[in-house]
Amino acid sequence: MTQPFGPSYVRAIAPYVAGKPISEVAREFGLDEARIVKLASNENPLGMPASAQRAIAQAAAELGRYPDSNAFELKAALAARYDVPAEWITLGNGSNDILEIAAHACVERGQSIVYSQYSFAVYALATQGLGARHVVTPAVQYGHDLDAMLAAIADDTRLIFVANPNNPTGTYIDGATLEAFIARVPREVVVVLDEAYTEYLAADKRYDSIAWVRRYPNLVVSRTFSKAYGLAGLRIGFAIAQPALTDLLNRLRQPFNVNTLAQAAAVAALGDTAFLEQSAALNAEGYRTLTAAFERMGLDYVPSDGNFVLVRVGQDDQAGERVNLGLLKQGVIVRPVGGYGLPQWLRVTIGLADENAAFLAALERSLAPA
Ligand SMILES: Cc1ncc(COP(=O)(O)O)c(C=O)c1O
Repeated sequence: MTQPFGPSYVRAIAPYVAGKPISEVAREFGLDEARIVKLASNENPLGMPASAQRAIAQAAAELGRYPDSNAFELKAALAARYDVPAEWITLGNGSNDILEIAAHACVERGQSIVYSQYSFAVYALATQGLGARHVVTPAVQYGHDLDAMLAAIADDTRLIFVANPNNPTGTYIDGATLEAFIARVPREVVVVLDEAYTEYLAADKRYDSIAWVRRYPNLVVSRTFSKAYGLAGLRIGFAIAQPALTDLLNRLRQPFNVNTLAQAAAVAALGDTAFLEQSAALNAEGYRTLTAAFERMGLDYVPSDGNFVLVRVGQDDQAGERVNLGLLKQGVIVRPVGGYGLPQWLRVTIGLADENAAFLAALERSLAPA
């Protein structure tokens, strides 16, 4: 018998299940693409800001050349925004790239990575892809149990992933609690604080994690342009960490991991505070609409600080898939989360007012007894 290709830990990876594309659902269910509502991937329902569209049109003329590997302009803009030297910034092909690079840069095969139950799927994928050991701490109320995570740190632990707010549950940890946690993590263990949804936090929930980067040499703060900035399709995220860690991350980064259009669009979006405020306000409004409807319908949901809500659509373990199918037939795409161990739940991204209304109407029909 011939040997299978690749290491056993790679063969054991369960591939990431992405939100279904609109075109696929249209084909599968015989629907008109224009009428499909996609609330499955936590994208910004406003789309890409006009400022970024203009920057892309200008940058298109340069596409015959490789991108600026060091992203001078974007790093300068980020450095000014966060008041850190440009040498503290690493750019990623999406923040997903940052999470992978951090794991590969800090952890050897056989060492361990700590993350929480119900946290972002890429933490498990990055761990598995390295042949590292998973240490998964049980969630409390669908969020991270930071004390359990501290207690789970073993001699071979080299990295901890913490998402705040967390995906897919939307849970949030306040700044004081989070900093107290980071202060207690041994300095040889790197903390990757994944803040993909931080721009959606209400003013009274914000905290300054970049100030912590100055205090803790083992902290990497990861951010993205995919969510509130509306640039998911361009694939761009970034990390801020002290120079020793940043230097390590940059050794593994592909030299041209962030393309020319993404760099130009990100500079424009970073300066577009009006768009960011509009996105956050729309999200807050949509959150109120969705959660009020869930309460009226008697559905449990996890209070969320992101641009999505996890809602329980039944008490049996087929409920998520069943209701999801009912929604797909009506042209509404959300995210089943059975793969996260949450088979009774669906995650819905907060959309435009008419998209939220279409989702709620379809949900009521899907839940109605046949
Ligand atoms: C918690 C979290 N981190 C990171 C990411 C990765 O996003 P991106 O690679 O688009 O920056 C996501 C995407 O859904 C996420 O939910």
